[in-house]
Amino acid sequence: MERIAEIKSAMESESVTDFASLEAFRIKYLGTKGLVKAVMGEMKNVPNDQKKEAGLLLNELKIFADAYFEKIGEGLGNDSGSSSDLQDLSLPGENLPLGTRHPISLIQQKIIRIFEKIGFSVAEGPEVEDDWHNFSALNLPEDHPARDMQDTFYISKNPDWLLRTHTSSVQIREMQKGKLPLRIICPGRVYRNETISARAHCFFHQVEGLYIAENVSFADLKQTLHYFVKEMFGDSVGVRLRPSYFPFTEPSAEMDISCLICKGSGCNVCKHSGWVEILGCGMVHPKVLENCGIDSNKYTGFAFGMGVERITMLTYQVKDLRLFSENDVRFLNQFTSIQ
Ligand code: DAH
Repeated sequence: MERIAEIKSAMESESVTDFASLEAFRIKYLGTKGLVKAVMGEMKNVPNDQKKEAGLLLNELKIFADAYFEKIGEGLGNDSGSSSDLQDLSLPGENLPLGTRHPISLIQQKIIRIFEKIGFSVAEGPEVEDDWHNFSALNLPEDHPARDMQDTFYISKNPDWLLRTHTSSVQIREMQKGKLPLRIICPGRVYRNETISARAHCFFHQVEGLYIAENVSFADLKQTLHYFVKEMFGDSVGVRLRPSYFPFTEPSAEMDISCLICKGSGCNVCKHSGWVEILGCGMVHPKVLENCGIDSNKYTGFAFGMGVERITMLTYQVKDLRLFSENDVRFLNQFTSIQ
């Protein structure tokens, strides 16, 4: 009878930490050659007058042992860290949701691919710029309103530093390298001190283009942009150039396409004109070339710049710019590939 108590306390002092030691526990105590069976086998040696009591105790031991085994087994089952030896490795893996590209990245990538096909390569530059690369070199006068604190984010540490307001600063950096001819597109994020609304944000993305060589003409500019619009939006889209003004180009123009939402019949997006502006462009101003050490008598060039958000909104018919930066997966999940 002491033997029964010994087995019980031995069971309780076993440390079962994984399924292997649980199985060892089962074999040691509950197996056909285990201690519980063995002590039951000793019943025949118990004197007759003690048999009844011993039988009751043995029965209790058996019930205790089964329940105890079940209890420690359940404890292990909840601990997934130690259940590795019970995993069925033939089961298919868990499906993790795949992320999708951001619509702005998708459209930016599509724009880049279109220009790469005709020999443009990607150039990048810093988002924190100095005044010269962002304004002065681009022929923006000292008193130009874009330089105002109301429009531009300045860095308080140094009055000469600012968050670039356009990627035209990358054009300057590339021209300064002096390697001609130059045929680049400059994608990137830009910043303006705007009140956030459905149509404006304090940051957005641009893709700029620049082509400098001998004998580059306005006809080359028109042809290049015409090719871009047809590749981007399809053959049926209407295109027009309107004269405009930028300090860094002369002559300058803005390009409109026929509204993709109402197909030209007039809606809110095109302000009932049937046309939507998509980019600014022009022949690079001789002063800008000279600022970068390029001989403006020998070289000419064209430049253009477009907002990626605008093009994305038109492509996917998104009406509110803020959706692009809210990171709501219900919105983002809808864009899995370039159309
Ligand atoms: N930098 C202009 C803007 O941010 C866009 C632009 C217009 C870029 C004409 C150019 C250009 O390169 O030639 O509004």
